[in-house]
Amino acid sequence: MNEISRRRFLSRITLALTAFIGGIVGLPILGYLLAPLFSAPTDELVPVGAITDFPVGETKLVSVRDPSPLAWAGQTADTALWVRRREQSGPQMFQVFNVNCTHLGCPVNWQAGAKLFLCPCHGGVFYSDGTVAGGPPPRPLFEREWEVSGDRLLVRQQPLPTVKQG
Ligand code: FES
Repeated sequence: MNEISRRRFLSRITLALTAFIGGIVGLPILGYLLAPLFSAPTDELVPVGAITDFPVGETKLVSVRDPSPLAWAGQTADTALWVRRREQSGPQMFQVFNVNCTHLGCPVNWQAGAKLFLCPCHGGVFYSDGTVAGGPPPRPLFEREWEVSGDRLLVRQQPLPTVKQG
């Protein structure tokens, strides 16, 4: 029978503990690095409410879960959209805007009295149709595709576009 020397025994224990700790630390890192390969962003249509929730001439905030290729996005994937109902029916019925300002992404606020979107970060201002009224934003608010199905308004999930700052 082979007797294990004390030195060899301690060496094996050290190796086993090192492998165990390496596994504990390494697996989440490996998962972090590989997760984008196994999850793709979706572009499906999601319901945001009944058409009757959006009176003609009003702009309302709705919450949506933004698609994200990142499995660990968690709460950061929760976002909102501004839904503007322009007409009673037809192809111009709605405009749906990303909530993020096109300057540096701060959420814009709708001021119903002034009929303007205001960005609290650097004073960006947008008209009710999303076009720039003033301040640093380089382009209009990003719009989402939408569709009416029965009595529901559906909005296409899209990753937040990025703007090149010139
Ligand atoms: S982020 Fe809106 S004006 Fe800068």
